[in-house]
Amino acid sequence: MIFRSWKLAPTSVKSTLSAAQTLLLLGALLAPAAPAAAQRKAAKSAVKAAPAANVEQRVAALLAQMTLEEKIGQLTQYSGREVTGPVNPRQTDLLNQIRSGQVGSMLNVKGVADTRAIQAEALKARLKIPLLFGLDVIHGYQTVFPVPLGEAASWDLDAIRLSAHVAAREAAASGVHWTFAPMVDVGRDPRWGRVMEGAGEDTYLGSQIARARVLGFQGERLGGTDAIMACAKHFAAYGAAIAGRDYNAVDLSPQQLWEVYLPPFKASVDAGVATFMNSFNTLNGQPATGSSYLQRDILKGQWKYPGFVVSDWGSIREMVPWGYAPTPADAAQKALVAGNDMDMENDVYRTTLAQLVKDGKVDVALVDDAAGRILRKKFELGLFDDPYKFSDLKREKQVLADPQHRTAAREVARKSMVLLKNERNTLPLSAQQRRIVVIGPLAKSKRDLAGSWTVYADTTQIVSMYDGLQQRAGKSAELRYAKGCDITGSSRAGFAQAVEAAKNADVVVLAVGESWDMSGEAKSRVDIHLPGMQEELFQALKATGKPVVAVVFGGRPLIFNQIAEQADAILYAWFPGSEGGHALADVLYGDYNPAGKLPSTFPRSVGQLPLPYTQYNTGRPVTKPGDIRYKSAYIDELNTPRYAFGHGLSYTTFRYDNLQLSQPKLGTGQTAQLQCTVTNTGQRAGEEVVQLYVRDLVASVVRPLRELKGFQKINLKPGESRTVTFTIGPDQLAFYNAQLQWAAEPGEFELMIGSASDDIRQQTKLELLP
Ligand code: BGC
Repeated sequence: MIFRSWKLAPTSVKSTLSAAQTLLLLGALLAPAAPAAAQRKAAKSAVKAAPAANVEQRVAALLAQMTLEEKIGQLTQYSGREVTGPVNPRQTDLLNQIRSGQVGSMLNVKGVADTRAIQAEALKARLKIPLLFGLDVIHGYQTVFPVPLGEAASWDLDAIRLSAHVAAREAAASGVHWTFAPMVDVGRDPRWGRVMEGAGEDTYLGSQIARARVLGFQGERLGGTDAIMACAKHFAAYGAAIAGRDYNAVDLSPQQLWEVYLPPFKASVDAGVATFMNSFNTLNGQPATGSSYLQRDILKGQWKYPGFVVSDWGSIREMVPWGYAPTPADAAQKALVAGNDMDMENDVYRTTLAQLVKDGKVDVALVDDAAGRILRKKFELGLFDDPYKFSDLKREKQVLADPQHRTAAREVARKSMVLLKNERNTLPLSAQQRRIVVIGPLAKSKRDLAGSWTVYADTTQIVSMYDGLQQRAGKSAELRYAKGCDITGSSRAGFAQAVEAAKNADVVVLAVGESWDMSGEAKSRVDIHLPGMQEELFQALKATGKPVVAVVFGGRPLIFNQIAEQADAILYAWFPGSEGGHALADVLYGDYNPAGKLPSTFPRSVGQLPLPYTQYNTGRPVTKPGDIRYKSAYIDELNTPRYAFGHGLSYTTFRYDNLQLSQPKLGTGQTAQLQCTVTNTGQRAGEEVVQLYVRDLVASVVRPLRELKGFQKINLKPGESRTVTFTIGPDQLAFYNAQLQWAAEPGEFELMIGSASDDIRQQTKLELLP
C-alpha cells in the first residue's frame, strides 16, 4: 500500500513561526509545487476549465441526453467499504450499478489505485459520467492536524486555512474530490461528542472559521488538483440536540436559529462552499432532511445557493423511525421535495424515485434540478475533461511525503494549545529542571493524540508527548516515566510507582484526559469529568510536594476540578495530531509561547450545562458573590464557569490601555472606530487575541450580557505596543428582532475589549441615534 511506504518527514522545527511565517508556509503550499510539466498541464486545464456559461450549456446538453434512471443515478451515493474489501454479493450489485450509470458518487473509497479502478467502471456506462469520490477528511488526511475544536482554539484563521489546505492537498492527490467538512454546527453542550468536530460555541468565531476552512479546502475556485470540494454540515442546528444526546430532537426559537446557528452556514455559502449536508435531527418537529424551510426557503431561496445538498448517512430513511414518513418511498419523496439532492447510503432514491415520478408524486423538474446541481460540480472540478485528474500515482506519492505537511501540523498544533493556569511561572520548563518525570495514561499514547475521524491516517507516525519531550530534552535532562493508571477503570495499582518516581523529580508532567474514542460521533457523555482514577492519581502526586504540570487531552471541554484548583500549571492540548508530541515539547519548554484561547466555556459541573458565555442578566442577577437568595443561581454551585470562553494565558503579560472611540453617538448607517493600545509587559515575545464584545443595554428582545463581535491576533515583542482598531457599525450592533428582521435598535451599547470574555480590560459606551 502507498501509505506503508511513506516515510516520517524531518520535523526539526525549533523556532517559533510568526504569523507572517505561517502565511509564508501557506503561500508556499498554495503555490503549485508540481514539476514544470505538471504546472504547464495544470495551466492548460485551467484555460480549458469551462467558464460558468459554458458549464451551464454542458449541464443542459447532458441532461437532455439522460434517461430518468440515469438522472436518479446522479443523485445516488454509496459507501465503498465493501467495494474495496473482499468480494461479496453487495460488491457485485454495486459494481453493476456503477457500470450502468445508477451511481453518481462513492464515499469511503480513497487512494489513487482504488479510485481509479472504480472510476474505470463508471466510465463503462452509456454516458460515461465520472463518479465523485467523497470522504470525511475532517482534520487532516494522512498528516493529522489537531481536532477542529482544538484548531479553533488558535483563533488563527491563517493557521486553520493552512490545515484545511494541507488536508485537501493530500486527499486530492489520493483520488478524493470532496470532503464532508467543515462541520460548522455551533456546539454549546460539551456532553455532545461532536463538539470535537466544530469550532466551539460562538457564532462569530465559528463563522470566521467556517470561511477559513472552506477556502482552505477549496482554494479560490474548484478545478485545481490540490483542492477538493468542501461541505458545510449539518444543516441545521444539529449542535443543539436536546441534552447533548447525539441524533436527538432540536427545539429552538426562530431567533436562536437565525442568530446563533445559521450564520456559520451563511458564511460558508458566501465563501463559495460547493456542497451542503443536512442533518439527523429534527428542528421544531420536522426532520432537517425533510425541511423545505431550511433547504428550499432559506438555503436555495433566500441565500440563492447554487451547490447541492447531500443527505447525512441514512437520514432520508430515518424519517420513518422518526415517525415523519410512513415508508422509505414517502421519505424519499419528502426529502427530494424539501431540497435534498443526493442520497447518501439510504438506497431510497435509486429504488423509489422513478416510480414516484411515474406516479406523478414527484415532479421530474425536481430530479432535473438536483441532477443538474451535481453535474455542475463535476464539470467545475474538470472531471468531464479528465476523469482521472486526481489519479496520478506519482503525485500521490510525492504529495503524501511532503515534509512541509508535518511542519504545518506542528505549527497548527502548538497554536491550538491553551495555557489554562500557570502559578508562579511553573512553565515553561527550565534547563535547571534536570529530573523530569512524565506520568499518566496519555503520556506515551500515539493513537489518542490523533483524536476521532482519522480513519485514513497512519497513526503509527504520531509523535507521543513522551517522545516529543525526550527529543527536546536530549541529554540535558533525565526523563523518567510511570503510567500511574489507565484512562478509565478503578485500579490504583500503578500509583505507588508513579509517586516514587515523582519524589525524585524536579517536576512532574502529568498527561491525563479522555481517550480518542470518547468524543466524536455517537460519543455523547452524561459525565464529562476526567474519567477513571486520573484525578486521584493527580492528588497522590501533588501530595509529594513537587510541582505538577497537568497536560489535559480531550475532544471537548472536560471537568477536572481538583486539578484546576491544585495543579501548578495546566495546558489543554485537545487531540493535537501527528506532531502532537513535538508541539507539546515546543510549548512546555517555551520554544513556542502559547496563545490559544478557549472556543468553548469549561463548566464546573455538568449540572450547569449548557453554559455558553452569552448569558442573560435575568431579572434577578447575582450581584455579590454568595448573595443567591431569590436570585437566578444554584444553591450547590456557582453560576460562573471554571474557565471562560476566550480564556488562555501566555508566558508573557499584556497591558490594555488608551481606549478611544471615534464618536460617542452614531447616526443610522454610520460606523465608529474603537481603538485601544496593547503592550507586551513581560520578558518574552508573545501573541495575544484581542477580543471585542458588545452588549445592547435595552432592546425589544432581551440581549446577552456580551457577544463576541471581533477579534485580532497580534504578535508583540517584549515592551512593544500596538494599537488595535475595531469598526463598530450595524454588523456589530444588529440582532434578529421578534419579526426576524436583522436590525440595530437605537439606544445605548456597551463596547468591551478584553483578553477573555471574563477578563474585560477596557470598556466604553456608544449611543445609536434614532
Ligand atoms: C456523519 C457525517 C458524515 C457521514 C459520512 C455520518 O454519520 O453524521 O458527518 O459525513 O456519516 O461518513
